[in-house]
Amino acid sequence: MDMKKLRAGVFGFGDVAVEYVKALRENSHVDVAAIVGHDPIRTREKVGRLGFDIKVLDTFEQMVQQKDIDIIVITSPHFMHAQETMLAAQAGKHIICEKPIGMDFQEMKRVHKAVKAAGVQFQCGMVLRWNPYIETLKNMIGRGMFGDIFYMEFDYFHKLTSAWNGFSWGGQNRSGGPSASLVAGIHAVDLMRYLGGEVEDVYANGTCGHRTDFEYPPTYIATLKFKNGAVGKTSCSFETESPYLVNSLIHGSKGSVVQDRFFTKEIFPGQTGWQKFETIMPDSGAVSHHPFRFLVNDFIDAIVNERPSMLNIDETYKTHELCMAIDTSIATNGKVTLPLA
Ligand SMILES: NC(=O)c1ccc[n+]([C@@H]2O[C@H](COP(=O)([O-])OP(=O)(O)OC[C@H]3O[C@@H](n4cnc5c(N)ncnc54)[C@H](O)[C@@H]3O)[C@@H](O)[C@H]2O)c1
Repeated sequence: MDMKKLRAGVFGFGDVAVEYVKALRENSHVDVAAIVGHDPIRTREKVGRLGFDIKVLDTFEQMVQQKDIDIIVITSPHFMHAQETMLAAQAGKHIICEKPIGMDFQEMKRVHKAVKAAGVQFQCGMVLRWNPYIETLKNMIGRGMFGDIFYMEFDYFHKLTSAWNGFSWGGQNRSGGPSASLVAGIHAVDLMRYLGGEVEDVYANGTCGHRTDFEYPPTYIATLKFKNGAVGKTSCSFETESPYLVNSLIHGSKGSVVQDRFFTKEIFPGQTGWQKFETIMPDSGAVSHHPFRFLVNDFIDAIVNERPSMLNIDETYKTHELCMAIDTSIATNGKVTLPLA
C-alpha cells in the first residue's frame, strides 16, 4: 500500500540530533523536513557541511505551527524539553524527546498529561534497549535460560567533561542537569525496569568522589526492591577515571549472566565454566555507536501500525519516576516507596 511519507522536524542541532537525522533519513516512511538550531546561520552552515538538504527554520514555534510536519524530535538542552514537548503535543505532533522529559516530578507529570491528552505517539531516548547485548539478554531471560531472576545490577560509568558540548548546560548544574540519574544514570535505571520489572522501593546514597565541578553528587548507588520480591542495585558515576562502562550482573534460579558471559545448566547441562557470547556491547559513550536507528524505526512503525512505541509516554514516565525516587532518597537519606505521590 502506498502511504504518504511522514515529515519530521528536528529541534536542537547538536551531536544527538545529527544521529536522529541520519536515522530518520534511513527510514523509508519519513522525510526530514526542517531543523531548528540555536543560531539559524550556524545551523545552516552545519546542515550544509553535513550534506543534508534540509530547510532550517528560525524558531521552534515556526516548526510546530507548520501543518505539514507530523513528527517533532527534541534534542535541545534539558530544561527546554518539557515546554517544547507540551507545545508539540498540543499541536498534535508525534514526538521523540531526549531524556529527561522534565526537570522535576511536577513538570514530568504535566508532560505526561499533555502527551496522553493529545493521543500522539511518543518515544524517549533510552536507546540502550536496542543495543544487541541488551536485546540478547531480554531474549535469554524471556526464554527462561536463567529461571526466575532474583538479583540484578546495572551500572552506568561515564567520565563527563567539557568534551561533551552539553557539559556546561546539562552536565554540571542542577538547573541544567538536574541530577546524575536524570542526566545519564537513567540508561541503567531504565534497563533495571526493562529486564527486572517494576520497582517497589529504593534506597540511595550519593557522593562527590573527587571532582568539585558538579553542583549535584556525580556518583550514586541505589538498592532497589522489585515488586516480585527480587532485589537489585543500580549506580552511576560521572567522575570515574576509566573508559565508559555499562556494567551488568543478573542471577536467576537456573543461571547467571555477568557482562557477556553466561552460565546456565538449564540449557547447557554440561557447562563447566562461564561461556562468552560475541555481541555488540554497550561499551562506548559516542552517540554514533548508539542504536538510534532502531529507536527511530520502532517509533515510525508504531505510528504506521498504530501500536504503542517501546518507550511510550507511560514507560518513559515510570523510568523517570524511578530516577526521581533515587534523587529523593539521596536528598532525604531515607527509603522511598513508589509510586511517587
Ligand atoms: N540517548 C542518548 O544516548 C544520549 C546521548 C547524549 C546526549 N543525549 C541527550 O540529547 C540531548 C542533546 O544532547 P547533545 O549531546 O546532542 O548536546 P549538544 O550540546 O551537542 O546539542 C544541543 C543542541 O541544542 C542547541 N541549543 C542550545 N540552546 C538552544 C536553544 N535555545 N534553541 C535551540 N537549540 C538550542 C545547541 O546549540 C546544540 O546544538 C540532551 O537531552 C542529552 O541528554 C542523549
